[in-house]
Amino acid sequence: MPNPVCPNCQGSGWIIAERNGISGAKRCDCILAEQQQENWDNAGIPPLYENASLDNFVLPTDNQLAARNLQNVMLIVRGYAKEFPNVDKPGLLLIGEPGTGKTHLAVAALRTLIGRGFSGLFYDYQHLLQSIRSSYDPTSGSSDREAYSTALDAELLLLDDLGAHRITDWVEDTVTSLITYRCNNKKPIIATTNLSDPDIGGAARPAATGSGREYGRTLADQIGMRARSRLFEMCRVIRMPQVEDYRFRKARIS
Ligand SMILES: Nc1ncnc2c1ncn2[C@@H]1O[C@H](COP(=O)(O)OP(=O)(O)OP(=O)(O)O)[C@@H](O)[C@H]1O
Ligand SMILES: [Mg+2]
Ligand SMILES: [Zn+2]
Repeated sequence: MPNPVCPNCQGSGWIIAERNGISGAKRCDCILAEQQQENWDNAGIPPLYENASLDNFVLPTDNQLAARNLQNVMLIVRGYAKEFPNVDKPGLLLIGEPGTGKTHLAVAALRTLIGRGFSGLFYDYQHLLQSIRSSYDPTSGSSDREAYSTALDAELLLLDDLGAHRITDWVEDTVTSLITYRCNNKKPIIATTNLSDPDIGGAARPAATGSGREYGRTLADQIGMRARSRLFEMCRVIRMPQVEDYRFRKARIS
């Protein structure tokens, strides 16, 4: 709906603009702004991250190396969000220790992209899998029933905390088919994980309770080799630098 009191289009949703000396009708910004707001409202961003942006991503003041490294990461994310979809790889994978700002940056990238007219959905990986699993139950709610197809078809999919779920054949098949479908259809994924990867490094999450494993598990352990391979094919992979957990940093400063 155009803004009925918009001074530019007077509520029609159209303005006359001149391009290369030729006048033509084009959509008014008031419609575009409303569409962006709707896309943001529908993106499912958790309240904790509703204000997360590149503008309020702060760099440490007590560690120059950490500040420089974190700034580099921020610049890569900014560049990705600005140049998308004209980027070498359409997705982003942020790997690193807890509290280093992965989810913050992923949401910030999505915010910029929505501001540029794209749409996207935030899914916590565990919740997504739970919803997909519940969807087999005939008494499940409609949001559960639609979870899988929504995640398949979203223009951009933000998968937060990838791999944070006990791996079973079903989990591996589900995540592989989701990632394969999106990869084959050139549908970008922005993902975060604190699992380690032998090619990238990263924190090793302690083995899942009851898994019988003593050592930290890797991304491939948790989502399967095939999903991991496709993810690397479609994503620019960013290793978060060694910085203090922001949750502690904030608690210390405030
Ligand atoms: N550099 C930063 N500037 C401002 N806020 C930050 C920064 N880094 C993290 N935060 C905030 O700290 C909290 C934790 O960060 P975030 O959730 O992004 O970490 P994470 O790397 O995703 O951690 P986890 O691996 O536990 O999911 C969030 O509220 C986030 O907005
Ligand atoms: Mg996170
Ligand atoms: Zn208008």
